[in-house]
Amino acid sequence: MVELILNESFLGGVELDREEEELLAGMGKSYPTVSDEYLAAVAKAKRKLRGLIAEKNCAPLMLRLAWHSAGTFDVSSRTGGPFGTDRNEPPGEPVPTAPTPASTSPLLDPIKDQLPILSYADFYQLAGVVAVEVTGGPEVPFHPGRQDKPEPPPEGRLPDATQGSDHLRQVFSAQMGLSDKDIVALSGGHTLGRCHKERSGFEGAWTSNPLIFDNSYFTELMSGEKEGLLQLPSDKALMADPAFRPLVEKYAADEDAFFADYAEAHLKLSELGFAEE
Ligand code: HEM
Repeated sequence: MVELILNESFLGGVELDREEEELLAGMGKSYPTVSDEYLAAVAKAKRKLRGLIAEKNCAPLMLRLAWHSAGTFDVSSRTGGPFGTDRNEPPGEPVPTAPTPASTSPLLDPIKDQLPILSYADFYQLAGVVAVEVTGGPEVPFHPGRQDKPEPPPEGRLPDATQGSDHLRQVFSAQMGLSDKDIVALSGGHTLGRCHKERSGFEGAWTSNPLIFDNSYFTELMSGEKEGLLQLPSDKALMADPAFRPLVEKYAADEDAFFADYAEAHLKLSELGFAEE
C-alpha cells in the first residue's frame, strides 16, 4: 500500500512494474510503514529540493552527498550506510573530499528546518534521487523510513581516486556488497559535476555538460583524454579492466541500458542496510 502511494505521489504516477517488483523481492526488502504526515514531508522535501537544485545548479553536490552517506556501508559489520550519519562528523578539520555539512548545510538546512519529522537519512537519499531525475537521468525509486544513526561511520571507507580496479572491488564489492555491474553503472554518476582543486587536488569536469545526466561519461571515456576534460585514475581503471570495459562500451553505445542499470544500482546503494528482512 505504501509502495503504491509512493509511486503515485512521488514518482510521477509510475507504478511498480513487474521487473521492479521482482528486483525488490529479490533484494529481500521489507519496507517500514511510515505515517501520512511523514509521507507529506517527503513530498514537500521533494518539491523543495527540485526548486533548490534549479536555483543553485547544485545537483552534483546533492548526488555526491547521497553517495558519500551510503557508500560508507560495510556489509560484514553492518555499520555505516545511508543513515544520515555524516552530519555528525567528529569535531576537527572537515574531510576535504567529502561533501560535509560545511558545504551542504547552507543549502539544505533551510529546507530541513521546515521538515523536522523527516530523518536526515531519508533527506540525503531523496536529494540524490531528485538530483538524478531533474538533470534528465532515470527515475530511481525512493522508499522512506530510514532512521538516523547517532554514531558517525568509521573513516576511510570511500574509494581513493588514485587507485585501480582491485581497490574499487575492495570498496564496492567486499565492503559494500555490490557487483561489477554496479561499480561501472554508478561510476556514471560522474556524468554530473566536476573536481575542485581545493577539495580533491583534481580539477575539471568529466563531460562538457556537467549539469546533464546522460551517458556522456562513458562516451568520453571511450574517446580518450581530451583537452579541458578530466579522467581520474579510478575512471581510467574501468577501461583497463577486462570485466569493466565491456560495460563501459555497452553504456557508451546504449544510453537506455545505462539508465536501467544505473537506476537499479543507485536504488541498491541508497538502501544498503535499510529495510532488510
Ligand atoms: C568509483 C569510485 C569513485 C571515486 C574514486 C570518486 C572520486 C571523486 C572525486 C575525487 C571527486 C571530485 C571532488 C571534488 O574535487 O569536488 C568526485 C566528484 C563527484 N563524484 Fe565521485 N567518485 C567515485 C564514485 C562516485 C559515485 C558512485 C557517484 C554517484 C553515483 C559519484 C558522484 C560524484 C559527483 C556527482 C561528483 C561531483 C561533485 C561536484 O561537482 O561538486 N562518485 N568523485
